[in-house]
Amino acid sequence: MAMAGAASKAKANGNATCDVRRATCDVRRATCAVCHGAQGAATLPNAPNLAGQPQTYLAEQLKNSRSGRCMHKVMGVIAKSLSDQEIEDLSAWHASLQRQPSPGP
Ligand code: HEC
Repeated sequence: MAMAGAASKAKANGNATCDVRRATCDVRRATCAVCHGAQGAATLPNAPNLAGQPQTYLAEQLKNSRSGRCMHKVMGVIAKSLSDQEIEDLSAWHASLQRQPSPGP
């Protein structure tokens, strides 16, 4: 039924937590993947690889960009939309990926 579908979508988007094992997180991961790559290996020359970096480091970078304390304009905007839980989960997920060599020629 169309309405049921719409309702469950709205619920997924409104979920403040981002558990990497749940589908709600896929939206976030897809966002990050635009620049940082689906497996954490960056697709842009100026975006760092996230795969295999320490979780605490990744989370700290995200919190610092969210608060505007440091970092790039782009990441500041993106980090502002993340909750603490999402930062922790996305950092844990990226940390769990296998470290990738930089995409070379
Ligand atoms: C529009 C492109 C773009 C998107 C989308 C994006 N990032 Fe970034 N990200 C960057 C760039 C560019 C940098 C480098 C910032 C700098 O040079 O200070 C960065 C830096 C980072 C860093 C710091 C890494 C380091 O080694 O210093 C983390 C962590 C990070 N991004 C996480 C994420 C997460 C998690 C998402 C998804 C919620 C995401 N990014 C989405 C472009 C993007």
